Amino acid sequence: MTNFAPMTRRIVFATGNSAKLREASEILGPAFELVSPASMGLTEEIPETAPTLLGNSMMKAGYIHEKLSCDCFADDTGLEVDILGGAPGVHSARYATDGHDFAANVAKLLREMARAEREASVARAYGLAVKASRKARFRTVVTLILGGQKHFFEGCVEGRIARRRSGDGGFGYDPVFIPDFLPGDVPNSGAVTMAQLSEEDKNAISHRGRALRAMAAWLADNEA
Ligand code: IMP
Repeated sequence: MTNFAPMTRRIVFATGNSAKLREASEILGPAFELVSPASMGLTEEIPETAPTLLGNSMMKAGYIHEKLSCDCFADDTGLEVDILGGAPGVHSARYATDGHDFAANVAKLLREMARAEREASVARAYGLAVKASRKARFRTVVTLILGGQKHFFEGCVEGRIARRRSGDGGFGYDPVFIPDFLPGDVPNSGAVTMAQLSEEDKNAISHRGRALRAMAAWLADNEA
């Protein structure tokens, strides 16, 4: 009897971040070989200038598909803070500067929120019913292009913004993001930030983990 090795399907993930590539590979499992654009010879910066997360994920996946004519996907993530009217949102990466400066982004976020809270309290002193919630969410949108067809997935994690940083894990806004629930749907009564979670626990509840698992479930149902 001949044993055939199971087929693996190669998909390009529009990222240069090896941690993201590893996380996505674990979620998609051995049926898929995830590779970076650079490993396929595409080393230029991929444009992401759309005004929405969906637009950016479509732009990045579309760019890879146009250049490499292959199955691919791209994600785009934003932090949406209620008191800032949804900012920084699609501008999360370059909120404070043009250079993905995580510390400067967090400092600007805390400054802008303090300003908005002061404005809200003045407005309330004048009898206006202004809410000043520190509620926020990370949202990830994924565009998958498979066989030339586009498919979309979303993942979200609800939480609130702390007044100061805690923890040294993760990246970006993790030190000030307090998820409402920890893995296993346990209420986060200790105000643990994303940066205080292990990588595994963060991936279990994170926006990107949820969007990638939604894509993995769809692929399992549609690519069997
Ligand atoms: P990207 O679309 O994954 O590049 O994310 C855009 C920006 O959102 C990043 O530069 C970070 O500032 C922020 N961000 C994305 N994912 C996370 C996360 O898991 N934790 C904290 N910040 C994140």
